[in-house]
Amino acid sequence: MGDAQNPLEGRRPLALAAADVFQANALAGKVAIVTGGGTGIGAATARQLGRMGANVVIASRKAANVEPAARGLSAELGRDVLGVVCDVRDRAAVDALVAAALARFGRIDILVNNGGGQFFSPAEALSPRGWDAVVNTNLTGQWAVTQAVANGWMLEHGGAIVNVTMLSHRGFPGMAHSVAARAGIEALTKTVSVEWASRGVRMNCVAPGLIASSGFRNYPEGTFVLEDLARRVPLKRFGSAEEIAATVAFLVSPAGAFITGQVLTVDGGQSLWGDSWIIPDPEPMPTVELPTEWWEEE
Ligand SMILES: NC(=O)c1ccc[n+]([C@@H]2O[C@H](COP(=O)([O-])OP(=O)(O)OC[C@H]3O[C@@H](n4cnc5c(N)ncnc54)[C@H](OP(=O)(O)O)[C@@H]3O)[C@@H](O)[C@H]2O)c1
Repeated sequence: MGDAQNPLEGRRPLALAAADVFQANALAGKVAIVTGGGTGIGAATARQLGRMGANVVIASRKAANVEPAARGLSAELGRDVLGVVCDVRDRAAVDALVAAALARFGRIDILVNNGGGQFFSPAEALSPRGWDAVVNTNLTGQWAVTQAVANGWMLEHGGAIVNVTMLSHRGFPGMAHSVAARAGIEALTKTVSVEWASRGVRMNCVAPGLIASSGFRNYPEGTFVLEDLARRVPLKRFGSAEEIAATVAFLVSPAGAFITGQVLTVDGGQSLWGDSWIIPDPEPMPTVELPTEWWEEE
C-alpha cells in the first residue's frame, strides 16, 4: 500500500531522529520549575534540566536550601537560575512563584513537583497535625502548584509535568499518610492528563524506590540500617538522585512526547519482590496443616 492510501497519512508525526532524543540542548529555550529543587532528587533534577538547556526555577520553603542551590547551579551553567522561597501549602506563595517565574523567564514549559516529605509512624499513632502536614504537602500542595502553572501558562501554551511520588501500588506500611497522598497524585495524574491532553499538556509520575539522597537524613538515627534496606532491592543497591533526575528529564524531553498519564517506577525491581516493613510473627506461629481430599478420608 502506498503512503497516499494510508489513513494515517498527514497525521503521523515525523520519527524522532537520534539527535532529537539525545542532543545536549534538548531543552534549550524551555523554562522549568522544580519544587524541592534545593536538595537531593530535586537538586539533581534542576541540574539535569539545566544541563539540557532549560532555564531553571528552584523553589522550596527554606532560603538556606534554595539560595545556595540556585547560586551554585547558576555558576555551573553560566546563566541565571531563579531561586524562590515557597511553601507549596501556601496558595498565595504558589501564585507568587508562578508570577516570579513568568516575570523572569517569560514562560513555564516544565513543572517537576518534587517537593515533599513524610515521617514513619504506625497509622494509629498519626496525629491530625501530622496527617494534615503530609497530605497538605504531598497531595494538596503538588496540586496547587500544578493548577497555578496550568492556569498561568500551560493550558494556553502546552507543557510537561512530572510528579515525584513513591512506591504506592502495594500500599506502604509505616507511611499511611504519605502513600494515601501519593496514590491520590497518581490518580489525579491519570485523570488530569486526559482532561489536558488536547491542550498540549502531558503529566506523568515518577515513583522512586530507595534513593540514596538527602531525604534519608530526615529520619531519626537508627530508623533503619541502609545496608539491610539495600538487600531488599533485586539490584542490591540504592538508586541515585541522578537516576531519578534522568528519568524525569526523559519524560519532559522530546523522547517522552507520546507518554502521558503514566507512573514510571524507578526502584531497581524493589516493588516486585521482598518487603520493607516486617510484620511481627505471632508466638506461637499457627501450624500449617495440608488438607486431604474428601475421597481419601476413611
Ligand atoms: N529518597 C528516597 O528514597 C525517596 C523515595 C520515594 C520518594 N521520595 C520523594 O522524593 C522527593 C525528594 O526527596 P529527597 O530524597 O530528595 O528528599 P529531600 O532532600 O528531603 O527533598 C524534599 C524537598 O522538598 C522540599 N519541601 C518539603 N516540604 C515542602 C513544602 N511544603 N513546600 C516546598 N518544598 C518543600 C524540601 O525543601 P525545604 O525544606 O527547603 O522546603 C526539600 O528540598 C520527596 O517528595 C520524597 O518524599 C524520595
